[in-house]
Amino acid sequence: MKYSARVASVLGLIAGAKAGTTIWSGSFNSYPNVSAFDNWSWSNEVGEYQWYIHGTEPTSHYLALDPSYKNPADTSETNGLRMTIDSTAQWNSQMERSELIPQTTQNLGTGELYYHFSIMQDGTNPPDSTLEHQIFFFESHFTQLKYGVSPSPTDLQWMIQDTPYWSAPFTAGTWFNFAYDIDFDAGTVGLWASTGSDPLTKVVDNIATSTSTNSEDFHVGILRLVNGPGQEDYYVSGVYVESGPITTAIGDGSAPPPPASGSGTTSVAPTTSVGPTTTVPPPPTTTTPVTGPAQTQYGQCGGTGYTGPTTCASPFTCEAISPPYYYQCL
Ligand SMILES: *[C@@H]1O[C@H](CO)[C@@H](O)[C@H](O)[C@H]1NC(C)=O
Ligand SMILES: *[C@@H]1O[C@H](CO)[C@@H](O)[C@H](O)[C@H]1NC(C)=O
Repeated sequence: MKYSARVASVLGLIAGAKAGTTIWSGSFNSYPNVSAFDNWSWSNEVGEYQWYIHGTEPTSHYLALDPSYKNPADTSETNGLRMTIDSTAQWNSQMERSELIPQTTQNLGTGELYYHFSIMQDGTNPPDSTLEHQIFFFESHFTQLKYGVSPSPTDLQWMIQDTPYWSAPFTAGTWFNFAYDIDFDAGTVGLWASTGSDPLTKVVDNIATSTSTNSEDFHVGILRLVNGPGQEDYYVSGVYVESGPITTAIGDGSAPPPPASGSGTTSVAPTTSVGPTTTVPPPPTTTTPVTGPAQTQYGQCGGTGYTGPTTCASPFTCEAISPPYYYQCL
């Protein structure tokens, strides 16, 4: 055994601690049901997400919330989200799309930020590996996941533009956790990844690219091209954007660490390298106390392990959404 149980438990506590500051939370806790996604419109920009990139059926055809739809390691969220595409999901093009976009006044494109999310497919209505998919991408595609493309069509492949740097078989029933490590000032992007409840580890060092965002072009969802008739379902949880240091625990980092397995082993990311991958030293092992301005509307203001602002900008108040894990300015 590499580490003593005691060291492992200390590492576990560190991994469970919230490290950075969440500058935009895509938690689904503020959505009691999927009807709430329809509250958003260009003239009523409310909630965590813009919801306009979808097909012609009612929202409940494309989105569903349920506790079984999240990564179980993410104890900060009540529900995960099932996102569906099918032949009705054409949006503005000959592509099928179900995508949420962050709704925020925060600048999501400055400094070094970590774009976190977890995704799973469970083998029912699985992705079609003969069709290209773009998954969790930016408008300019400087960073994105793809599925159904060469050189590894049955893998989830992480790409900068269209060059793969990391991939792993998109195995049914496995939760894949990611954080895009984007340094908007330096113009670089790297990748953190893990599966299941394992903490994130850095799997691709930052590489120069033309990073850019208008803070409203992180596509949380799936685009399939060209059209296929088949229905595909994806499961999503743990979506948030953080300023560093990175939180490596799964969820939003506000949850207690998972129970120690007793083995004390460290995790290994599911990596089958495709491109010029390099590994880096372990993630930061210190936490930084956060002080700062009052939290904005819909931002987190409390919860287990949370270290960000606990006061809300006027006129909002800090409300218990999912106590003791999550409190939000509303
Ligand atoms: C969704 O939740 C809201 C708020 O709790 C409630 O008013 C509404 O009736 C619910 N809609 C459906 C379709 O369950
Ligand atoms: C959606 O709008 C309805 C009606 O105004 C409201 O009752 C509900 O609280 C809203 N839900 C969310 C999550 O914004």
